[in-house]
Order: sequence, then structure tokens, then C-alpha cells
Amino acid sequence: MAKLHNIPPEELERQRQYALKVREILSAKYPTAKPLAYVHTYGCQGNVADGERIEGLLSEMGYDFCDSPEKADLVLYNTCAVREHAEDRVFGNVGKLKNYKQDNPDLIVALCGCMMQQAHVRERIYKSYPFVNLVFGTHVLHRLPELLYQTLTGGKRVVCAPDGFGEIAEHLPVRRSGGVKAWLPIMYGCDNFCTYCIVPYVRARERSREPEDVLREAREIIGAGCREITLLGQNVNSYGKGNKSDLNFAGLLREINALPGDFKIRFMTSHPKDCTHELLETIARCDKVSKHLHLPVQSGNDRVLRAMNRRYTRQQYLDLVADAKATVPGLSLTSDIIVGFPGETYEEFQDTVSLVREVEYTSLFTFIYSPRKGTAAAELPDPVSHKEKTQWFAELTAAQEEIAAKRIAESVGKTYTVLVEGRSKTDASRLAGRTDGNVMIEFAGSPEQIGTYCDVRVTETSKWTIFGEAVPENESK
Ligand code: SAH
Ligand code: SF4
Ligand code: F3S
Repeated sequence: MAKLHNIPPEELERQRQYALKVREILSAKYPTAKPLAYVHTYGCQGNVADGERIEGLLSEMGYDFCDSPEKADLVLYNTCAVREHAEDRVFGNVGKLKNYKQDNPDLIVALCGCMMQQAHVRERIYKSYPFVNLVFGTHVLHRLPELLYQTLTGGKRVVCAPDGFGEIAEHLPVRRSGGVKAWLPIMYGCDNFCTYCIVPYVRARERSREPEDVLREAREIIGAGCREITLLGQNVNSYGKGNKSDLNFAGLLREINALPGDFKIRFMTSHPKDCTHELLETIARCDKVSKHLHLPVQSGNDRVLRAMNRRYTRQQYLDLVADAKATVPGLSLTSDIIVGFPGETYEEFQDTVSLVREVEYTSLFTFIYSPRKGTAAAELPDPVSHKEKTQWFAELTAAQEEIAAKRIAESVGKTYTVLVEGRSKTDASRLAGRTDGNVMIEFAGSPEQIGTYCDVRVTETSKWTIFGEAVPENESK
């Protein structure tokens, strides 16, 4: 029986009929070559996974893809609302499309994703960017065929961004873009309402895909030759709540680990409040699960953690880290941190610096607090200047760099198994691979090695890059 929160098959079939109609319209309009779509996704991997479904639908409707907006017949920005900086980039890039539209009046400009789920953003687009043809929110992605049909035939702007109560669209076509790596969403939405965060407002309530749907997609991914699956959700540790099946996240990991094939499993994000010892043991025992845990702490100070509504204390977090390190030998830990939460003092910020030194993360994602309209924290007094927050930010970054430099120096001479992801971005004669702990290593090799696991001995390091050499097979281990 279909779950209440799965979009019914009749609705998906209705969309397929629209996709066929769009295909006919496009083939009449572009008789010699397929029209080109330029799709760009901002934000988290969950949004990237949505973008891959959008591209799947566009491909079904007869589009090919191009890698710059200049050549495109359809430009679609899949947006992120998590920080002001992300939103500013979108507004800037949409503004630039005005000129392309003047050169090519048939160009369709479409915007979707988290920003479009906010009424004040839709208003700004409506008023200041009249050349935008289509706007749709995060809950109607599966209705893209219908909405594009309306855009192509109606001659009017189409805006569709209803509030969602949390539905899941299964069986959408996917055009994967990650090469040897694939994204696999296992849940959507968030119920945690951390006071700084917009995600629960633009993504609605937490809901999980049924294990059978996740496993079906995992098999597809492995069958297509991908070597690394990253399971995605805002809080994967609470996977399964409300499902027909009572499988929890640790159980799901074990099931995926048991699938045949030569691949690795990663996942993100783990909320510390829901990280269980069972999960840590599962990471330790499952050979395909990478020994890497992204465990965002956000702050090392109890008052700030409480004001953020994170629902753990500094000590609880440190206890969890101790358990994780003891249970999973060699575990690589990474984290997200917010600097300058409203009302945070310099002394409170120092608690974050000391926690970072204590935990010794492999790497950190650090953000200066950005007020988000509609969230609780946006209403709090925020007396510390941006300039001062920038100084704190630099202080934290310097502390982490010291830790990373020590770790990197210690890696010289050691051998790591890496998944070769592609050529190095800075020097195309080298290959770039990632260790189990999610650290990039560059080494000389041939393109046939892309997509394989390779043993690499670290030879030297620079500030940003670790260099190594491939270890011949007969020498390794
Ligand atoms: N669900 C994940 C995080 C998703 S958002 C978790 O709970 O860990 C990714 C990161 O963006 C967050 O971890 C946080 O560090 C940062 N972030 C979210 N909202 C922010 C805001 N308003 N200002 C600055 N950083 C923010
Ligand atoms: Fe945002 Fe908190 Fe949910 Fe993460 S857990 S998405 S930070 S509300
Ligand atoms: Fe951004 Fe939406 Fe992800 S706000 S971080 S794209 S869930």
C-alpha cells in the first residue's frame, strides 16, 4: 500500500502526459536540434540531488544540456536560502540573464529551490525581474512538466510554490552528474528548528523514504558503476520515523552495506542529539561504510547551544566524540560551525575555539551567522559588528589550520586507499582521489584509473594539498 506521504502514481502519470506534450511542442519549435537547458544548483547536496531529478525530467521532455547560460534555450537556477550570501549570488546571476533574454526572446528563465519557497523572495522576483518566466517551490518539483507546459503555452508568468506538508515523489527520472560518486536522498525536510536555520521553513516536515525505495535506488547506482554512494538528509540519524518499516538509520546502513558490489557508503548530516552508539558500532563493523562522521557542533558554548536550540550540551557532544573515537578506530571527524550567533560574546566564542582544539577535526565548514527572515534568531539583538565577527572567524580558521597542518604533516610516508575521482583541478596531469576519511590526495597516474580504488603513499604536502605516489600493487599491504 502506498504511504500517505508518497505522491500518488496517478499524479505522476498525469505529469508524464504533460512531459509528452512538452516534448511535442519542443520538437515542433526546434526541428533540427534539441533545445539546450542550462541548470545550475546552489546549496547543499540535497539540493544537488533535486537538481539531478530536474535534469532527469528535462531530459524526458526533450532537452539536451549545455554548460553556460549564453547558449541555452532554458536557464534554470535551483536556489539555496541558507545564508544571505547564497541568495545574493542568485539575485546577481538572475540579473545578468536580462541581456541574454534581449538577444534571445524565446529564452525561458526558471527559478526553483529553497529561495522560491519564501514569499518575500517571490515578490522581489515578481517586481524586479519581470523577465523570469517560471518560479516553482520545493514541493512541486515533480510537477515541472505541467508547469513548463503552462509556461510554453500560456504566454504568462507561472508561479507555483504552495506550502508543503511533506510529500515524497518516487520514481522520478534522474540524470546523475557526480561521475563515480552518487547522491542518494533518504529523507527530506527537517523538524529540528535550530533557531538560526531556514531549512525547516522551506523544506517542511521531516519524512523518510521507505527502505525498499532507498535500496532500489542504491542498486541502480551500483549497477551503473558508481563507486561511492552518499546518503543524504538534514538529520539522517532520525531516519525512518513515520515509515511503514521500523528500520532505523543504522539498520539501513547495514542493508546497503550488504548489497553486492565494490563501493563505499558515506552519509550526511548526522545531528549529534540523535547519534546513537548503535550507529557508531555499525560504522565500525560495516566494511563499506567510510570511517568518516560529519557531526556539526555549531558552537562549543552551552548558552549559545541552548539559544540555537541544538538540544545537546558541550559535554554531551564531547562524550559522543569520545565514544565515536573509541568505537571507530581512525575515525575522521568533520563539523559545521557558526561564528557570531546573535548575542554571542568573545568569551563564548572562545569555547568554540577550545572545543575545536580538543576534538581535532579533519576539516571544518565555518560560517558567519546570517540572519534569516522568519527564524527565531533573526529577532534577537545582535550587537557584535560584522567586522568583529570576521576577526573571530579568522581566529577560528587559524586554529583549525594549525590542527590540519599537524595532521597533514603526520600523513607523510603513510599509504591510503583512495577512490580516484578525476583529474586534479589545479594540474590536469595529476589525478585526485579521496581517502576513506574524506581527505583529497593528488598523485601522478593515468586517466584509466579514474573510478578505481588505488593505494597512494603520501610523499609531500603543501598548505592546501597532499601529494602522493601510487603504490604498485605487489607492494601494497
Ligand atoms: N542539517 C544540518 C545542517 C544544514 S545547513 C545540521 O543540522 O547539521 C548547513 C550548515 O549551514 C549548518 O550546519 C550551519 O552551520 C550553517 N547555517 C545554517 N543556517 C545558517 C545561518 N543562518 N547563518 C550561518 N550559517 C548557517
Ligand atoms: Fe537546520 Fe537544524 Fe534542521 Fe540542520 S537540524 S537543517 S541546522 S534546523
Ligand atoms: Fe540551502 Fe535548501 Fe539545502 S536552504 S542548504 S539548498 S535545504
